[in-house]
Parts: sequence; C-alpha cells; structure tokens
Amino acid sequence: MRNAVILFFILIGVTLISCSRQQSDKIVIGEYASLTGNEATFGLSQDMGLKIAVEDINASGGLLGKKVELVTEDNQGKTNETVSVVSKLINVNKVCAVIGEVASSRSKTAAPICQNAKIPMITPASTNPEVTKLGDYIFRVCYTDSFQAVVNAKFALENLKIKKAAILIDQKNAYSTGLAENFKNVFTKLGGTITTEQKYSNGDKDFNAQLTSIKATSPEAVFIPGYYTDVNLISIQARESGLTVPLFGGDGWESEKLIGGKAKDALEGCYFSTHVSAENPAANVQEFIKKYRAKYSKEPDCYAFLAYDAGMILFDAIKKAGSTEGIKIRDMLSQIKDFPGVSGNISINAQRNAVKPCVIIEITGGKFRYKETINP
Ligand code: PHE
Repeated sequence: MRNAVILFFILIGVTLISCSRQQSDKIVIGEYASLTGNEATFGLSQDMGLKIAVEDINASGGLLGKKVELVTEDNQGKTNETVSVVSKLINVNKVCAVIGEVASSRSKTAAPICQNAKIPMITPASTNPEVTKLGDYIFRVCYTDSFQAVVNAKFALENLKIKKAAILIDQKNAYSTGLAENFKNVFTKLGGTITTEQKYSNGDKDFNAQLTSIKATSPEAVFIPGYYTDVNLISIQARESGLTVPLFGGDGWESEKLIGGKAKDALEGCYFSTHVSAENPAANVQEFIKKYRAKYSKEPDCYAFLAYDAGMILFDAIKKAGSTEGIKIRDMLSQIKDFPGVSGNISINAQRNAVKPCVIIEITGGKFRYKETINP
C-alpha cells in the first residue's frame, strides 16, 4: 500500500509539476538512510553528520545565494524501500543531488536510479568496489575494500603475527562477500592460509555450527567482515564455544552497539579497520566533534564524519559549478582535490573513489582505542 501511495505521488510529481528542477529559492538535497531497522546505527549517524553540514553551510550564507534544504527518507535498511524513496527524492522533491547510503548493497540499488536521472549520488561509506562502477554520477568519500582488505591481511600477518585465519562471511551482503574475497586473495598471496570459509546470513541468531567448524580447523584468528549486530552475537557465541583466538573485521563493526552486553568481554583485545580517528587533533576534526556533542550529546562515529564530508564536498562542487544542474555538479565533484575533510583529506580519483588512509582500532577495556593509521 505504501509503495502504491509513493508511486501515485511520483506520477503526480512527474506529470503536474512542470516547473523545472530547483527553480525555487532553495537548493534541495536528498538523503536516504537506514533510520530504522537492523542497521539503524549506520543511517542515524549518517543523518546526524549530514545535518551538521547543512547547518554549517546555511550559517555561512548558504549556496549560490540560497538556503540549502535537506529532504531525508528512511529506507528501513531495505532494498525495495530504497527504490521507492530514492525515486521519490528525484521525481517529487526534485533534489539536485543525493547522499547515501552506508551499506554497499543499498548504494548499489540506488546508484542506477540516480545515474539514469543524471543526479549525482555520493555515498559516505559504501566501500564495495562495484558501487562507483555503476556510473559516472556515482561518487564516494571513503576508500574501497580493495584497500581495506590489504590493510586487514597485512595487519594479521605483521601485527597479530598469525599465518592461519578462518573467515566467517555474511553470504548475501555485497560488502561482506567482496571484502572476504579480497582479504583471502591478499592474505594467501602474502603467505597466509585460510583454514575454512564459513557462511551465515544477516539476522541469524545461532552461529554454533559455523563456530564449531571453525574451531575444528584451529585458526590463529578469525576474520569477520560483517555488521556490528551479527558480530556482537558471533563474538559471544565464539567465546562460549571455547574459541579464544582474536576476531577481527572491517568498518561494518563500527557502532557502540558492537560491544553491547557480553560482547564487551568477548571482543576484548580484538581489532577492526575503519575510517576516522576522533583522536586526530586537527582543528576542523575537533570542531566537528564539539558541534556533534553539543547537538546530540554523544560522540560521532565514522559514519557521521563521512556523511559530514559527503555534504561538504557536494556544497563545494555546487559552489564551483555555480549551478544545480546534475552534469555540472558531477564535473566539479570529479575534480575535488585535497579537500580538508573531517574524515581526512579527500581527493577524488578517476574512478570517483576517495583515496584515504585506513585506521585500525583495538577494543580494550570496553573502549575503541586508536591503534594506527595505514596510508594507501
Ligand atoms: N563500508 C561498509 C559497506 O560498504 C559499511 C557497512 C558494513 C555497512 C556493514 C553496513 C554493513 O557496506
């Protein structure tokens, strides 16, 4: 029913609204995010970070003499909702650009819609390499998993000093399968062995069969390229099943919910790679953290930092384009060089990806502690 209503509005929007895009006194930007559902942490952080970017640009006088207005839609972390809300943003709200999503699978769903409409899309945090290959209007402000996999493989071999790792993969998630594949290739090329590859599906509650199989192969560590919700349960069950080796993973782990409940102990001494260190003393980073705390009474996670930057490079591109026309914004986005973002300096390469360092976090004493930064 909800889809039918949305479709109705899309049709009305397309047929009745004859005024052209953005002729109003505002510049309208669209955002889609998982504000509810299994991965709500990701969507809420994206939204909170982006809102600060919009406030900042409007406080500094707006863009092209107009105020920026943000229209946010909740896709509930679902594919079909992603299709409806992104179509609605473009056809009904007439947004000139779209920001989203965190999860690669949903960015891959939205990208062709934006590409067909020639509306630039910037994902703050989708690291799967395929996302930006979906068209020349699709950008990201983060690194890709080709790099994140190298960082994890080298970290395991050089810092954890292990040679035998098992992998536990979320089998229907593009991010997880992609990162696992890249990790396996690099790790084995550098002399490591994968003892077993086990699979689960996001939302599973019982991982005992996979953990028993993993334990039987005696790995020295387990690589889990998954979501914080699943990793939370996996870590608890791993310890209950007597698997004591370190667990490590990628940016899908970053949420305060990762170490909720018994996982606080289960993940002690474990590691994950991510995008940003809040310990970076740079003035713009600390200023962003201060604003975020003041507005939301909590600490920003990497998705908030990245979304703020996605907004800021978009505003920069619109300013330089002197226009809200998709093609002109796209051309300026593709020329972003050394933009001083709060998630690091951003340079967009020819594949529309940002070339950025990767940060390793260690979980100690129930806290995320910055360990090191690895440059591309
Ligand atoms: N970088 C990850 C991705 O591209 C972030 C993420 C991981 C989001 C896991 C959701 C779940 O998908």
